[in-house]
Amino acid sequence: MNEDSQITRREFVAGTATASAAVATGFPNALPAAPNEKLAIDGGTRAVTEAVPAWNRWGEPEAERLDDLIGQSSLFYWKGPQTTAFIERFRRHCPATHVQTCSSGTAALHIAVAAAGIGPGDEVITSPITDIGTVIGVLFQQAVPVFADVEPDTHNLDPADVARKITPRTKAIIAVHLAGNPCDMSRLRELADRHKLVLIEDAAQAWGAQCQGKPLGTFGDIVCFSMMNSKHISTGDGGVVASSHEKFGPLLQRFGDKGTDRVDRSPLQWLASNYRMSEAQAAIGAAQLDRLAGIVSQRNRLGRLFTAGISGLPGVIPHREREADRSSCWFYMFRIDPKKFRCDRAQLVKAMKAERVGAIAGYIRRPLYAEKMFQEHSFFAGQWPVRDSGQTKTDYRKVNCPVAEFTLETGIRLRLTENMTEEYVRQLALGVSKVIRHYAA
Ligand SMILES: Cc1ncc(COP(=O)(O)O)c(C=O)c1O
Repeated sequence: MNEDSQITRREFVAGTATASAAVATGFPNALPAAPNEKLAIDGGTRAVTEAVPAWNRWGEPEAERLDDLIGQSSLFYWKGPQTTAFIERFRRHCPATHVQTCSSGTAALHIAVAAAGIGPGDEVITSPITDIGTVIGVLFQQAVPVFADVEPDTHNLDPADVARKITPRTKAIIAVHLAGNPCDMSRLRELADRHKLVLIEDAAQAWGAQCQGKPLGTFGDIVCFSMMNSKHISTGDGGVVASSHEKFGPLLQRFGDKGTDRVDRSPLQWLASNYRMSEAQAAIGAAQLDRLAGIVSQRNRLGRLFTAGISGLPGVIPHREREADRSSCWFYMFRIDPKKFRCDRAQLVKAMKAERVGAIAGYIRRPLYAEKMFQEHSFFAGQWPVRDSGQTKTDYRKVNCPVAEFTLETGIRLRLTENMTEEYVRQLALGVSKVIRHYAA
């Protein structure tokens, strides 16, 4: 563990009493939360005294870049000054040889799988706990998403189950860094190398995260980011795909821009969409990238403080950040052990909300394979050509990832943003602690 994460629950509680300990933990006040303290839902005092801090995200830097933009004669991305500035700043966080801006994280992932040569009937292993954007490109390539189970505390792909899901048809793994928390990339890399698979990183939620002290994209062959509205940094909508791979990297631009490379006049070789990002988005994005380091270090710190605040509570499994990694904490999801409580998760969440903790039950409603279009294999106007033509026998009605299902049934999620103070997060932990102890069996 690195220095910042050396905060135990004991320190957290002790730090409440003395100023010196408060400096060590970063938590200035006490953590009273007696087990029998009256809950806000029962008329007691709310644990969180302030409203959710405003999430101010734009300002002078964005305005300055937009001012520059107005003087441009073209807002087209190709060699545009804003896109050039964006890519230069992006490389400070992710030093890849080839960087392609695009219209969304979904587009970035489609470009990645297409550039990796994924085609009809190829299997791509990924997590069932993710945004549908992770697999949209896989499906459009007429390839087959294969879902592997997740780890119970990081909520990320379990490399052991990935290994079990590899078949002679497997071509790639998409490692989703859920909530900004890096996957076990050394084990996934080792598996990918052993089976000659392409390793793609879905870092849509993981701007600024680090794996073993290295930026995301170091372990994978291709890395993809999203800049849709709620991400750490945003262009409203947008994405980036990057790679230093000698074969896939040079293809990113083509697959983001209708199959052309805008330089040579070679014939169109593959079907590719128009996923371009405009200069206006790149202008905002370049300014946003200047903010990224500060955003990520504050979110990571708040996430670790929150972990310290809830560690050791009965029936609570904190969101585990792997040693030497740095989560960029897009959200924080702890799990509960339902057997340890006198009430269900809905009641816990309701009571937390009454304490003014912005708790939400779970993440996506169901694992991806349980969605209707998977259950009915009805992706393309009610059909799924690769299955109908016998290129795959995949039957999503038979897929079962028990840990993923349990995670979605028992997770409680919170939003931690960089605008929050340590005191505010201390109060969030206090609110959770009060409710958990009250309802503990
Ligand atoms: C893990 C993950 N992958 C892919 C995507 C798709 O990104 P976008 O919404 O920009 O298309 C998202 C977006 O929320 C995401 O969270």
